[in-house]
Amino acid sequence: MKVLVIGGGGREHTLCWKLSQSPEVKEIFAVPGNAGISEIVQCKETEYEKSFSPLVGLVRKEGIDLTVVGPEVPLVNGIVDYFQKKGLAIFGPSKAAALLEGSKVFAKRFMKKYHIPAADFKVFSDPDKAIAYVEKRKGPVVIKADGLAAGKGVLVTETKQEAVKAIKLIMEKKAFGDAGKRILVEEKLFGQEVSFIVLTDGKTVRSLVSSQDHKPIYDYDQGPNTGGMGAYSPGPISPSLHKKIMRRIIIPTLQGMKEEGREFRGVLYAGLMIKGGEPKVLEFNVRFGDPESQATLPRLKNDLLEVLLAVQEQSLNQVHLEWRPQAAVCVILASRGYPGSYDKGKSIKGLEKLSRLPNIFTFYAGVKREDHGLVTSGGRVLGVTALSKNLKEAIRQVYRAVEKVHFEGMYYRRDIGYKALKKGNYG
Ligand code: AMP
Ligand code: GLY
Repeated sequence: MKVLVIGGGGREHTLCWKLSQSPEVKEIFAVPGNAGISEIVQCKETEYEKSFSPLVGLVRKEGIDLTVVGPEVPLVNGIVDYFQKKGLAIFGPSKAAALLEGSKVFAKRFMKKYHIPAADFKVFSDPDKAIAYVEKRKGPVVIKADGLAAGKGVLVTETKQEAVKAIKLIMEKKAFGDAGKRILVEEKLFGQEVSFIVLTDGKTVRSLVSSQDHKPIYDYDQGPNTGGMGAYSPGPISPSLHKKIMRRIIIPTLQGMKEEGREFRGVLYAGLMIKGGEPKVLEFNVRFGDPESQATLPRLKNDLLEVLLAVQEQSLNQVHLEWRPQAAVCVILASRGYPGSYDKGKSIKGLEKLSRLPNIFTFYAGVKREDHGLVTSGGRVLGVTALSKNLKEAIRQVYRAVEKVHFEGMYYRRDIGYKALKKGNYG
């Protein structure tokens, strides 16, 4: 089979790496891919931001059997509907279903309607009304742009002044453009965060192993949110909590979406906050996590192509996911300045040393190949994953590996996975 992967970050490098292990896969293409992806598959520069028609051209020309979409933007823009109309096989949710990530206001109203536990909220399209509301409201709030903002449109605040500043940044300074025309003012939740990710074909649901991301830029969860600075798997979820999450959150969400005429197929990612054993939804995403994929897919024993095809062909009931018992930890190496504007074009050294280490996997994100070698081209540059017998050992190995890499202004969190080593950490 021939497969096309859309996207060019660490998640897509992981998807290509895993798919390339399938004996059924004859050839893989990636659009646009990156310098790491191009070492294992064929990368193409086909444009897909303005129109999906060039991609359809590529799929037809190369005889591609299945397209796998990594990032949320093309999903929210309707790539799946477009491909299906042309009779082409594609993995991911429809535009109607992808609204669960595309509009935070839609997701919150949906959760309220179907009694899915989540933080209290109010919606505003007028900044003055939002400011008046936070000034009289008690307790800390989180300010969220309604639309997509590359994981950065959520501002967690401590004080009223910070909340007002966040509202002005989103609605008056338009820091996230049209995504901030409407905002949510949400009650701030406390507890342990967990990424709970499932695959569904509309009939059967299969959960991936749990994982935990680390969103803030600095150690001990300080500073502004990023797309994710590292992840580990398994995350802090006991079997009874797993059941509760399925019963209270995943199943009602999938049933509710069906009732709304928005049947969900693909990856549903629930970002959860767990406190006292009670899960609440922070957000929904409609695709694999980044960097959660870098920490979960190396643990998957199944042939990923078979799994994705089963979702696409609605035969997921015949697939059982099997996982390696080892723990995985992924540390993201970022470029100075991220998540604000960051340095680019810095030479990356030491990667060849990583390729010699057993059970260390290096996934490229913002990396470009120039004549003189590899250089940085994005905020999140690399993800380094260690797979080892337990979490403590995986943490030790990943940090030993990370020390071998260098680029000017390289920054990474030094506490990825440590939370899980504390006793009694199951929410
Ligand atoms: P989201 O994109 O909605 O998941 O938000 C990004 C991050 O902001 C989450 O991973 C949490 O760390 C944080 N966050 C979002 N909503 C809340 C909330 N209601 N209370 C506390 N933290 C939140
Ligand atoms: N790791 C966060 C995300 O994929 O949205």
